[in-house]
Amino acid sequence: MRVLSGIQPSGRLHIGNFFGAMRQHLQLQAEHNCFYFIADYHALTGNISPSDLTQYTFDVVMDYIALGLDTEKTVFWRQSDVPEVTELTWLLSCITPMGLLQRCTSYKDKIAQGLSPNHGLFAYPVLQAADILIYKSDLVPVGADQKQHIEVTRDIAIRFNNTYGEVFAVPQEHIIESVAVVPGTDGQKMSKSYENTIEIFEPEDSIRKKIMRIVTDSIPVEEPKAPDKCNVFALLKLVAPPGELAEWENRYRSGGMGYSEAKKRLAELMIDYFKPFRQKRVELEKNIDYVKEVLAKGAERAKAVATETLAQARKAVGLGDSVRRRAGDG
Ligand code: ADP
Ligand code: TRP
Repeated sequence: MRVLSGIQPSGRLHIGNFFGAMRQHLQLQAEHNCFYFIADYHALTGNISPSDLTQYTFDVVMDYIALGLDTEKTVFWRQSDVPEVTELTWLLSCITPMGLLQRCTSYKDKIAQGLSPNHGLFAYPVLQAADILIYKSDLVPVGADQKQHIEVTRDIAIRFNNTYGEVFAVPQEHIIESVAVVPGTDGQKMSKSYENTIEIFEPEDSIRKKIMRIVTDSIPVEEPKAPDKCNVFALLKLVAPPGELAEWENRYRSGGMGYSEAKKRLAELMIDYFKPFRQKRVELEKNIDYVKEVLAKGAERAKAVATETLAQARKAVGLGDSVRRRAGDG
């Protein structure tokens, strides 16, 4: 089974990305043939500066490797190192109805958040479909926010196959449902776009400070509190051992506990959770040549698959030079 997923280098990765996506990506490596890439072409739709795009791309690569990406087994590359995907995007664009893209909620959401409506943002799902189809992916593990993009991909694959003959495997989706949305320090969804993140590898002191600033309600220490409504508890759920979590739940409900106590413990648990990977992350930072080598090898493996699929798609639509003879010609 070929599993494929991409992550945009639109900022430094945070614990929402980890518990919502990366952890599952890393777990799937044990049992599947995984293809993971850094979606730098996609990040360009988000008005990012050239230096940030380069820096964040390397940050994401180093974060994944430090957290346990198996660079031998898993094919891991930078999207733009295999530009064949943009040619396939064009072939797919020409059979994609406007209405299909107009219905995409992520485009509308991004405009509502203030991004200027450029064509790249509108065509984003077609590039994503090309990513998925060019590598003949069976399963695409994504968060619930990406469900519609997988449906669009399936629709495009079926249309292409119906028009030109069977070229693409129609992928299944695999929604990562195990984790609810991870809240940020302000209580909204943690997101690179909201400045409410706790980065996986930010300095430990900064993690402590951010956790102490997490928004809570103003119920006094002595009164009982509702764990399910608390942003601190939502994060404790991710990192506290089950026994300890049950104790915190009790203490919330019984009263006599202040949020700052829970926050202090959360900070220590969060720091401990990622501690085993910090050293590796620091070493990678000092060894960029190794990181580049990983990307180069990944690109080579990805390109081999992409070139083959693109050739099939080009042939199917009639690009190329196999000229049909006219009836009656010798
Ligand atoms: P961001 O909102 O920070 O820009 P992305 O949209 O790039 O994050 O998401 C990358 C992956 O991380 C997606 O699979 C998404 O579902 C997951 N993800 C992002 N934020 C969260 C969150 N707060 N909780 C759970 N999963 C998240
Ligand atoms: N759109 C995805 C996100 O923002 C990233 C992405 C790009 C992707 N291409 C993909 C995910 C292909 C899965 C498959 O999270």
